[in-house]
Amino acid sequence: VARGYTGRDKIVKFIGCYHGHADSLLVKAGSGAATFGQPDSPGVTKGTAKDTITIPYNDVDAFVNLMNEQGDEIAAVIVEPVAGNMGLVLPKQGFLSTLRKETEKHGTVLIFDEVMCGFRVALNGAQAAYGIRPDLTCLGKIIGGGLPVAAYGGKREIMDCVSPKGPVYQAGTLSGNPLAMTAGIATLNIISADPAWGKADYTRELSIKTKHLLQGFAKAAKDAGVKVQLHQAGSMFGVFFNENDVYDYATSESSNQEAFCVWFMSMLEQGIYLAPSQFETLFMSGAHSDDDIVKTIEAAEVAMKKVADFLKDNK
Ligand SMILES: Cc1ncc(COP(=O)(O)O)c(C=O)c1O
Repeated sequence: VARGYTGRDKIVKFIGCYHGHADSLLVKAGSGAATFGQPDSPGVTKGTAKDTITIPYNDVDAFVNLMNEQGDEIAAVIVEPVAGNMGLVLPKQGFLSTLRKETEKHGTVLIFDEVMCGFRVALNGAQAAYGIRPDLTCLGKIIGGGLPVAAYGGKREIMDCVSPKGPVYQAGTLSGNPLAMTAGIATLNIISADPAWGKADYTRELSIKTKHLLQGFAKAAKDAGVKVQLHQAGSMFGVFFNENDVYDYATSESSNQEAFCVWFMSMLEQGIYLAPSQFETLFMSGAHSDDDIVKTIEAAEVAMKKVADFLKDNK
């Protein structure tokens, strides 16, 4: 992790803590070390892909056309309401409401994958922030406080299909594992304004901290003459080296990824561990102090100058 890092201070990490808010009780007790890794598993089979249609994020016209043509045969639509897996990309006004309207019209189940944005965009997720109620919601990461937990839930008529009430049997070795449930409850107590934890407005606090950080990044970029797109949704944030708007995968990919490498390496050399790809999202957590923010902005000032030099040399 610390390859390239030459400083002696602690490393400030913005990649989440696999994947809870990092000041959960378990992390304090040392689980952070056990949950640091970044495994990945591309595993979509051809069969699954065959039954799936993908359309670009934020493309309202493509979606409406698709639903007009095949809506009655489409069982479900699944979307990250705030996308975190192409870098952080925000829904344009009208995108999520169109998904809702069209799926309702065709009797299609609307599923929000809030595995990443749940408890981060807002306490009650992106669906609360944008005022759109899906039929089903998937959650993970924070809901387990850094331990492996995933959950889904939604409309009663759908959930009643799951056993013991309904015929769909769903269980797993780790389902409802007591240790993981305890970690999740501890984390959710902290972030859900439980006065016993003394954190009345946890998500808002993180959001403000994130905004301050991005204001620092914006100034650093401007001073260095570097064009960036900085995105924020609650405690999630992302940086694209792009002169134009980033609103889907293609525009994300069109960003200058080499410039991102220069930025990433310079930040790492200064003890700031960002996600090593612009296609990953960054996370503010309760563990980040005001000093960490100041240190990160100072590092960004250096890193943006390096990016500016790189861009000049590679015109
Ligand atoms: C938005 C989102 N959904 C789902 C997942 C993974 O879910 P699963 O492990 O159940 O495939 C991830 C993993 O990082 C994710 O970011």
